[in-house]
Amino acid sequence: MIKESLINEINKLGEKQAWNHNFILNDGVETRPGKQSSHGKNHVKLKRLQPIFDQIGLSGKNVLDVGCNEGFFSFYMAENGATVLGIDIDEDRLLKANFIKENFKKEQNAEFQNIDIYSQQFKDLDRYDLCLCLGFLHRVPDPFKALAELGEKSDMIIFEWKALKFGPHDDAFAYFSPKPVNEGDFFGTEYWLLSYTALERILRRIGFLHFYRIDDPNQKRAILVAGKVSNKIFNMPDQIVHRGRFRTFLSHTKRYLKTVLGVISGKVNA
Ligand SMILES: C[S@@+](CC[C@H](N)C(=O)[O-])C[C@H]1O[C@@H](n2cnc3c(N)ncnc32)[C@H](O)[C@@H]1O
Repeated sequence: MIKESLINEINKLGEKQAWNHNFILNDGVETRPGKQSSHGKNHVKLKRLQPIFDQIGLSGKNVLDVGCNEGFFSFYMAENGATVLGIDIDEDRLLKANFIKENFKKEQNAEFQNIDIYSQQFKDLDRYDLCLCLGFLHRVPDPFKALAELGEKSDMIIFEWKALKFGPHDDAFAYFSPKPVNEGDFFGTEYWLLSYTALERILRRIGFLHFYRIDDPNQKRAILVAGKVSNKIFNMPDQIVHRGRFRTFLSHTKRYLKTVLGVISGKVNA
């Protein structure tokens, strides 16, 4: 495809709903140009996850990418020898994933299906060697149910999510996001922010026994690899920066004062 028509196609697909994943295509055309600095951006996320993928090994694996969005991580897995099914509830995201596949990744073993994690269709899926659950947990209204469904599909899951970042991040807390529903991108709405300990407790209830953890209260997002069976990744030392009780207290106090000032100034309802 020549550069001009590629740019037109990309823009057309982005009209109804802006692109989320940044793909760098022919002649340097990008689907979502702009700074890739925050942990939620796909290239930064991949950089953080790459050592985990390398340790686990992707070649020959059957992978389920839940909430695959426009397929950036599905394509990465397939490029590295995995067979991938990417599922997402949002058809517009999958339209873009299939555009990338048809035009740039045709030969890769990545397929996409429009499936809701809470549906019978999801229950009917096969089991997989590995499940990816990236940027997903804070986007679903009932994380416990989603996790119970996921746990039926694989003995090994890689989570990356927007975790609780104030208060005692290493206690089992969940916080309901104060952001309003995202009308322009409904499935991009935020619900619960879970601390990594909360996620781990839920996973233990549904049979996961082994964990590798990356978390730091100074960052917005955490990573947790969970397994029902042993794997060499679980021998790696966790990378957790603990906030400590004094800083936890300060963090709570700051939030409390912000609310009180909001009520006094009339910006927050009492
Ligand atoms: C923020 S994106 C994360 C995309 C990608 N995994 C990543 O890390 O870059 C979350 C995705 O989850 C999808 N999603 C939300 N609720 C879902 C559900 N109930 N079942 C399947 N997918 C869902 C959204 O449509 C969206 O594409």
